[in-house]
Amino acid sequence: MTNAARDLEHGVGPVPVTVCQATAPGKVILFGEHAVVYGQPALAVPVRQVHASATVTPGGDSFWIDATDLGRSYRLEEASPGDPLRRAAELVAERAGLARLPAARLSLRSTIPIASGLGSGAAVATAAVRALAQLVGLALDAAEVSALVFETEKLLHGTPSGIDNTVVAFDQPVYFVKGQAPLPVRVARPFQLLIADTGRPSPTKITVAEVRAAYDREPERYERLFVAAGQIAQQARRLIEAGEPDALGPLMTNNHLLLQTLGVSSPELDRLVAAAGQAGALGAKLSGGGRGGNMLALVTPESKAGVEAALREAGAVRVIHTLVE
Ligand code: MEV
Repeated sequence: MTNAARDLEHGVGPVPVTVCQATAPGKVILFGEHAVVYGQPALAVPVRQVHASATVTPGGDSFWIDATDLGRSYRLEEASPGDPLRRAAELVAERAGLARLPAARLSLRSTIPIASGLGSGAAVATAAVRALAQLVGLALDAAEVSALVFETEKLLHGTPSGIDNTVVAFDQPVYFVKGQAPLPVRVARPFQLLIADTGRPSPTKITVAEVRAAYDREPERYERLFVAAGQIAQQARRLIEAGEPDALGPLMTNNHLLLQTLGVSSPELDRLVAAAGQAGALGAKLSGGGRGGNMLALVTPESKAGVEAALREAGAVRVIHTLVE
């Protein structure tokens, strides 16, 4: 038990009055979504243009959670056991050796669209875990934060690979294989992505379950598709580390074709991918669970304005520019 935690439990010593704050970025999967659930490697990068933030203000009569963007405010003990934020709070208390967290208000804000493939659930939980750890004087490194957030991801997504919590908690480009420590990816030459939102929310849990059902029907066929996606992720890592990001374009397009074959694309995503290609993007693909949510286009300084205009024309409700570095 930390000293701060012991003081809190026994009501002695310095009751923290300081407000604890933490943030966490969004993320995109560059290569290998879905296949990563089946043990194949995948690549993901943080997206700092969007983020979640958590503020914990000690005091009051019990522990409250303000999910400001959802317009919900509730007491921790009133939340269902399947509530990811309740689980996050319980896990931090357990790690600190406390029966429960001290009275406080946890307020959450996020600029990451929900169910859009940008890691909103993982980012909110990461920010919450970090702020709560500060409250009880618990020092957690990125791997420990990631492990706690993974538990909350299971409540949201069923059978997550762990890539979302990993890239968000480590806040750096990662090469990820389920069940293994992530490998940081050294970006030898920065490259520019446009992230375009179809405006159609699509919970990851649903597409992951559909892919699972399809895999159970035809395991060999789906295994071949997953292996092909894993090979693309391996090749992409080599290109990024060799400073040849322009060569990622065809890999993105091939990965999109595999995701189409898996059945997780949609007319909206395909329209955006095609529009990006026609406007001069080096490559494009859906990103995340698919069916809705976001897609990525690899652009150059010369092509980015034209590709952004084409994406908006093709129905993108928002376009984020991000530099992978
Ligand atoms: C979700 O961001 C990525 C998926 O591969 C699911 C997972 O890895 O848990 C679709």
